[in-house]
Amino acid sequence: MEKIAPVRGTRDFYPEQMAVRNWIMDGWRAVSRRNGFEEYDAPIFEYLQLYTQKSGEEIVSQLFAMQDRGGRDLAIRPEITPSLARMINQQIHSLPRPVKWFSVPRLCRAERPQKGRLREFFQWNIDIIGDDSPLADAESIFTAIDYLRSVGLTSRDVVAKISSRSMLAAWLQELGATPQELDTIYALLDKRAKLPEETFQALAVEKIPEAGLRNKILELFQIDSFEKLKASAPPAAQEEVARLETLFHLLEVMGVRDYCTFDIHIVRGLAYYTGVVFEVFDRGAELRALCGGGRYDNLLKVLGGPKVSATGFGMGDVVLEILLREKNLLQTAAVPLDFYVIDAAAELGEQTVQTACQLRGRGFSAAFSYKRLPLGKQLKQASSQKARFAVILGQETIDSRQVTIKDMASGLQKTIALPEFLAGPDKVFAAGT
Ligand code: HAM
Repeated sequence: MEKIAPVRGTRDFYPEQMAVRNWIMDGWRAVSRRNGFEEYDAPIFEYLQLYTQKSGEEIVSQLFAMQDRGGRDLAIRPEITPSLARMINQQIHSLPRPVKWFSVPRLCRAERPQKGRLREFFQWNIDIIGDDSPLADAESIFTAIDYLRSVGLTSRDVVAKISSRSMLAAWLQELGATPQELDTIYALLDKRAKLPEETFQALAVEKIPEAGLRNKILELFQIDSFEKLKASAPPAAQEEVARLETLFHLLEVMGVRDYCTFDIHIVRGLAYYTGVVFEVFDRGAELRALCGGGRYDNLLKVLGGPKVSATGFGMGDVVLEILLREKNLLQTAAVPLDFYVIDAAAELGEQTVQTACQLRGRGFSAAFSYKRLPLGKQLKQASSQKARFAVILGQETIDSRQVTIKDMASGLQKTIALPEFLAGPDKVFAAGT
């Protein structure tokens, strides 16, 4: 029989990889909590309609869709934001506002697997619902940076590129674009940095056939600093530009302004964004976005609820892990085994098991060999199981209830009375022998 391979674009997490994943997730959770967010989760699949309603073409084409036995259309979640909006809508009147929630869902997207893009991944989500102030946008961006900073990524390593859809919408309409044309123009702008100039120009002609309007829009796309944006903003866009300025000021107050820059190219692929939008990239621009988000003030309403403001982001584990590995910043949350209990005399088999279980009962991790083996082999097992200490029960245990504790790293050992050891196994840690 042939061995069955894992599906392309998915990952197996052997304990070594699991320790890395846990370290990443522990960090996400710790930073969420210290920024005042509470954890939630939602089902792994939803009705297909939840996504077709507002998430946008791209993500809908990447859905793993299926039918239940009643013929109802379902989909595995490609993102958690629609589920969050659905959950909030269900309890909208009882939830205290603002809602500050986080989640670390497993998501699936049927994309072509490539570097930084898989078909199954984890994504840290932070969302603030029920507040339309720039302070909420600033706090969302701050939280992303707070995590990146906590793992050692500096402002020389990563950059949060920020813009605003509402600013663009006001400006583009001032230039003569209709509200119906906005999504097409956003999609074009999104492609600008990704396509060769010639291809981009050809696409621009196709998407905005009228030369006058097209030239004005292409000129707007040239703006490459916030100062230039401010200096050339038409009156209709000034309010939104001022909002962006407030956001940059707040990020300064929060101490992360050096991580942030204005970039007109950031519009985001998902259709539901309405205001501030941002993406975090590695400064070398070698990788895809680490993180993306923004304000989505209409999603709850589109999904049948009242109009409630919302802002947040998603950060995937895949690009993050690649970058951290490249920068030598990756750590693991591997938990070593505290004790490996060894029987050095045949009669002690049961007492070995009992000692290990007593240690477990006191909150320590402990293991033992399932087979009777010579002392040397058991010590080898202790080190292959990454035990910090070997607890050796031998002839002296039979004679005088004494055990030998061996520090596996230093090789130092100490013989003490078994009851004394069991009364305070952590004293061994404290003594370091
Ligand atoms: P998104 O831009 O689709 O946004 O995804 C956010 C991040 O998730 C990306 O920057 C990337 O790190 C990661 N990601 C996305 N797709 C993949 C993939 N196929 N493989 C690996 N990583 C991936 C959203 O999902 C929004 N719902 C985020 C959000 C929350 N906006 C507001 N609240």
